[in-house]
Amino acid sequence: PVPNVTLSDGNTIPQVGFGVWQVPDDESFTAVTSALSIGYRSIDTAAIYGNEVGTGRAIASSGVPRDELFVTTKLWNSASTPWTRDAVFFEFEASLDRLDLDYLDLYLIHWPRPMREDYRTMWRAFTELKADGRVRSIGVSNFQAEQLRTIIDDTGVAPVINQVELHPDFAQSELKAVHAELGIATEAWSPLGQGQGLLDDPVLARIAEKHQRSTAQVVLRWHVQSGHIAIPKSVTPHRIRQNLDVFGFELDADDLAAIAGLDAANRLGGDPATFDWN
Ligand code: A2P
Repeated sequence: PVPNVTLSDGNTIPQVGFGVWQVPDDESFTAVTSALSIGYRSIDTAAIYGNEVGTGRAIASSGVPRDELFVTTKLWNSASTPWTRDAVFFEFEASLDRLDLDYLDLYLIHWPRPMREDYRTMWRAFTELKADGRVRSIGVSNFQAEQLRTIIDDTGVAPVINQVELHPDFAQSELKAVHAELGIATEAWSPLGQGQGLLDDPVLARIAEKHQRSTAQVVLRWHVQSGHIAIPKSVTPHRIRQNLDVFGFELDADDLAAIAGLDAANRLGGDPATFDWN
């Protein structure tokens, strides 16, 4: 069984979930179906991923009771310009429709776009969605300290989660300290460093050998022992299974120190300070 993390609003989320970024809609049905059959109970999608429909079909056909699932999706920031409360509600309903659900467990603002102030309007609307009960928990993604403080100052409501790029070679220590101060749980996207060079790292290979696990399992175990929520993505059934099987071994202090030495500010995705699109 996957342990839960308790969020600041009292709700709980499984510490390891299944991410579907970069999974095309037609493949998302198969991937989410295998994840649910293997035992994942948390699924992370987003409007911009274009796979809410396949994800929702997999949820519906899985037979897993809705109250045993934790479903996350995200508001894409350029879906409306400028943002209004009603536009946020409209996009929220559209995501629910595509997922074929009547409530969400977690709704996130996907990127802050700090050069605009729209994220403040969005967050006010999110607090209303939460009050309406259509979404159990509200949070953000890719927010920096300054934007976290701004939305809390505006509304008095802190996001329960900030989902950010985080892997051993991009360890986000400063932001995690801010999360701890503000009572925000840290959720890692690209927890495996997108499966690129990181998983071939010799330090991780040595630790993996020692525990008779894969390097991916060592990385996910590091997330778990670091208190992160992680949402690894895979379309490969044996990897989907392997990525959930990280609760039967423990990294020791030497392992953790060696992994801490890998931090190299190696950001793979967009920089939230400047990332924008139209
Ligand atoms: P695939 O989907 O082809 O199985 P992240 O979650 O950090 O973005 O990483 C996702 C990438 O890592 C995907 O390319 C995925 O490949 C790969 N991956 C996922 N799990 C594993 C694993 N256990 N071992 C090796 N590669 C993995």
